[in-house]
Amino acid sequence: MDRTLFELAPETRWLGARLEVFDEIDSTNLFAERLGHEGAPDGTLVFADRQTAGRGRLGRSFFSPGGRSLYFSVLLRPAMPPEQVPRHVFAAAVAVAETARANLPERCAVEIKWPNDVLIDGRKTSGINLPAHFEGNRVVFAVLGIGVNVNLARDELPEELREIATSLRNAGGKSLDRVAFAEELLVQLEARLDQVRAGAFAAVLDAYRNSFRMAGAKVRIGGPGVAREVIGTVLGVDEEGALLVKPPNGGADSVERVLAGDVTILRGPV
Ligand code: BTN
Repeated sequence: MDRTLFELAPETRWLGARLEVFDEIDSTNLFAERLGHEGAPDGTLVFADRQTAGRGRLGRSFFSPGGRSLYFSVLLRPAMPPEQVPRHVFAAAVAVAETARANLPERCAVEIKWPNDVLIDGRKTSGINLPAHFEGNRVVFAVLGIGVNVNLARDELPEELREIATSLRNAGGKSLDRVAFAEELLVQLEARLDQVRAGAFAAVLDAYRNSFRMAGAKVRIGGPGVAREVIGTVLGVDEEGALLVKPPNGGADSVERVLAGDVTILRGPV
């Protein structure tokens, strides 16, 4: 019998000092945003077994059926300039990738697709987003939303996702204890968020680069809300996590620095 998310008891210090768990909710992000407006503390954690209106990046929806996966949001009140707030998504991607790797057989290839999708054997297993609320040039709060496909079976995925998405169970061949996985992930996440807060983002990026396999890939970056499409060859990520892309017809030192967008890997020449 599966343990329920109501049994969650992570061994964290500040992450989850207030913990809200729901069987069903529209979106943990939306609930965390409501709590943010009501003054809930930094580190408040909202989990749901299923979401009826799970939100993805760039205005997309996020498939969120019950009983199999993890959907949660962390309310953050970061004391840092707005341009540094995206650092939290790199911390989250590293925490998810490392926890996934620790729970999978070695044959499974866990990687981060810039900026923050975690893939197993080339298929998406986790999505992360970070809506933020500003007053002038001050971040009042940000909501770190994380979804992880833990135990979904392939035939539980909608047809259109079967070739591009997977779960830890699909890839690794066995079901995991969702509660234990969540507790492990939260401990890793707190440690990485601590590094962001302590000004040690370079350590987060070192770990990020260990899971980054896109160097040399030909890509197109665009998507809703992205002003200008960029096409080229990925060189790596810089010290702020921006993607460095070399356009096909640029001079020897022309490099595009991409801060946001949706990446498509191109198979042919660019
Ligand atoms: C993406 O891949 O586009 C980001 C997906 C983020 C999904 C998570 S699930 C928990 C939290 N609540 C939401 O509505 N969205 C995030």
